[in-house]
Amino acid sequence: MIISLIAAVSDNNVIGKNNKLLWNLPNDLAFFKNKTWAMPVVMGRKTFEALNNKALSGRLNIIITRNKNFKASNAVVVHSFADAKFVVQSNNYNELFVIGGGELYKQTINDADVLYITRVHTNVEGDTYFPEIDTKKWQLDFNEEHTVDIKHAYAYTFQLWKRK
Ligand SMILES: NC(=O)c1ccc[n+]([C@@H]2O[C@H](COP(=O)([O-])OP(=O)(O)OC[C@H]3O[C@@H](n4cnc5c(N)ncnc54)[C@H](OP(=O)(O)O)[C@@H]3O)[C@@H](O)[C@H]2O)c1
Repeated sequence: MIISLIAAVSDNNVIGKNNKLLWNLPNDLAFFKNKTWAMPVVMGRKTFEALNNKALSGRLNIIITRNKNFKASNAVVVHSFADAKFVVQSNNYNELFVIGGGELYKQTINDADVLYITRVHTNVEGDTYFPEIDTKKWQLDFNEEHTVDIKHAYAYTFQLWKRK
């Protein structure tokens, strides 16, 4: 199974603060929707909360929590990443997207095959981070730069990293 991580990450590796995103980049949201559409998305319970406890439409939503009583509508609740992979396989998918947050990225990056990173060109203060991308293990396969415009307060770069 292909394990892909997808994240928007500042130049100093921040991905969030107070369980919120730190930017609004419509092109990145469109990219995220397009990449993950019709696919399984696996997320930590806090990221699900950051989505206002609403499952993403058009995708198999899988939420990881240690809380055995946790319930969510339109989503499958599991208690480990191994269980998430089992659900994905049982539904006949051959790829899953880890969509955050920091804890989930940290736990899954060593199992991942592909990283879709939107590098947001700012240094911001935050409380949640994407792990360092070790260039001994990962090679940059695609890099597309975008400048600031009326809808995007930060320049950003779409990057695709593949495991070496
Ligand atoms: N920039 C981006 O692309 C992006 C994407 C997603 C999220 N974010 C941001 O990231 C932040 C949230 O990240 P986070 O690191 O705080 O939390 P998180 O990774 O979203 O969720 C952590 C929770 O997941 C559950 N969990 C984690 N590992 C588990 C395991 N092995 N087994 C069972 N349950 C497990 C636990 O839930 P319980 O406590 O319920 O047991 C844990 O508290 C927010 O600021 C959000 O906005 C940013």
